[in-house]
Amino acid sequence: MLDKNSGIYIPQHVGIIMDGNGRWAKKRGLPRSIGHRYGAQNFRKITRYISKTGVKILTLYAFSTENWKRPIEEVNALMGLFRQYLIDLLTDFRYDDIKVVFIGDRSVFEPKLIKLINESEEVAKDRKGMLLNIAMNYGSRSEILRAVKQIGREVRDNALDPDKITEDDISKRLYTANEPDPDLIIRTGGEFRLSNFLLFQSAYSEFYSTETLWPDFDEECFDNAILEFNKRNRRFGGV
Ligand code: FPP
Repeated sequence: MLDKNSGIYIPQHVGIIMDGNGRWAKKRGLPRSIGHRYGAQNFRKITRYISKTGVKILTLYAFSTENWKRPIEEVNALMGLFRQYLIDLLTDFRYDDIKVVFIGDRSVFEPKLIKLINESEEVAKDRKGMLLNIAMNYGSRSEILRAVKQIGREVRDNALDPDKITEDDISKRLYTANEPDPDLIIRTGGEFRLSNFLLFQSAYSEFYSTETLWPDFDEECFDNAILEFNKRNRRFGGV
């Protein structure tokens, strides 16, 4: 297990695009919803592991603003899993001192799910361990648009001088306000794209893609991503 005593640099903020549940199920002749079920179980297991490695912030992409385009049965299966797993995390993550925050537009979810989302945040708000951001109905472009609208209102109300707006002013109006940008973004399932995840925040993130499908992404796979990250030479535009 990797941790701060292993001599390996543990990134502060890691983002994960949990892709490949559907293909995992298809390979086994199972419906996609079963892949999501195994994916959700893995979400719980890996989150607890990562919280012990010393990572300070973990941002997981659970449902994008584009995922509503999926067949209604699949969307419903995912909503059912969210309900079930949020109930679990209300108790489960307490043992690991994990603080939970949801990023994205929660207003469109059904009232029962919104209530669970709010409760999960409320019970965890004073925890001091890893911060877990769960991105649900999240899309980076709409997050940026929301920040632009906010800035527009502040300019209109003379609270902000348009000539003095900084990158930090934008950053502070994103869901991830006051959090360091992700150092590392991991994508499972073999694709090499960000799919509208943390576009502003990932300007200098290291990107790591693995063929491993999300339900199979275990502790060793995570350690491998961290070891690979340790070999990268981050220059942030410098030399
Ligand atoms: C992508 O796989 C995965 C999703 C759209 C859903 C991710 C959600 C979970 C893992 C559950 C997490 C649970 C909680 C409570 C946060 P895909 O369906 O796009 O797979 P494919 O590319 O093989 O089709």
